[in-house]
Amino acid sequence: MKEQALNQLYARVTGCCCDCPGEREGAGLVRDRSNPDVGIVLLGEAPGGEEIKKGVPFAGQAGRKLVDYLALAGLTRADVFIINSVKCRPTKNNDRANRKPNACEIKACAHWLDEELAILSPVTVVTLGDVALKKFGGNAVRIGNYHGQPLVWGELTVFPMYHPAAAIYRRALEDVIAEDFAKLGRWLQRKKLKGA
Ligand code: URA
Repeated sequence: MKEQALNQLYARVTGCCCDCPGEREGAGLVRDRSNPDVGIVLLGEAPGGEEIKKGVPFAGQAGRKLVDYLALAGLTRADVFIINSVKCRPTKNNDRANRKPNACEIKACAHWLDEELAILSPVTVVTLGDVALKKFGGNAVRIGNYHGQPLVWGELTVFPMYHPAAAIYRRALEDVIAEDFAKLGRWLQRKKLKGA
């Protein structure tokens, strides 16, 4: 049921383009192929080059970090469904490098993300990084003030995390992120949102 609705959505996203400044590629090519019924959605920023090549989110270096962090929460990739805030890969230098999505791209993709979240109807959204957290908290929120604690938004609980790539650039965050994922695991267990 969700699978079919997602297929239709991603078919519409493919080939989407916007009038925003900057280069980009691969709208709609990246999607999680795991079970959309799991109830725990991870929301990232935007696909990079590796993700476009393989067609799955978090397929590169940040993805390998993410798998290690998920293990600290007692989770594997199969326990979560991963999506991105921006549906194409923002690029620079003739697609040779990734770049952070700009505000225009984030806004232009917001309706796709809304539709995706409506289909998935998760119980918990784990936001990875600032861009993903802003989707729920607005532009003024800073990940530094909210990471590692559950925030209740009506029916939905949002669990903000630093982006796993942040640990690659700021080694000091490594332990903070590890502790946040351990907290997520304890919280999911208390709420009986994951096995045993
Ligand atoms: N970073 C993200 O935020 N999303 C991906 O899919 C890959 C890296």
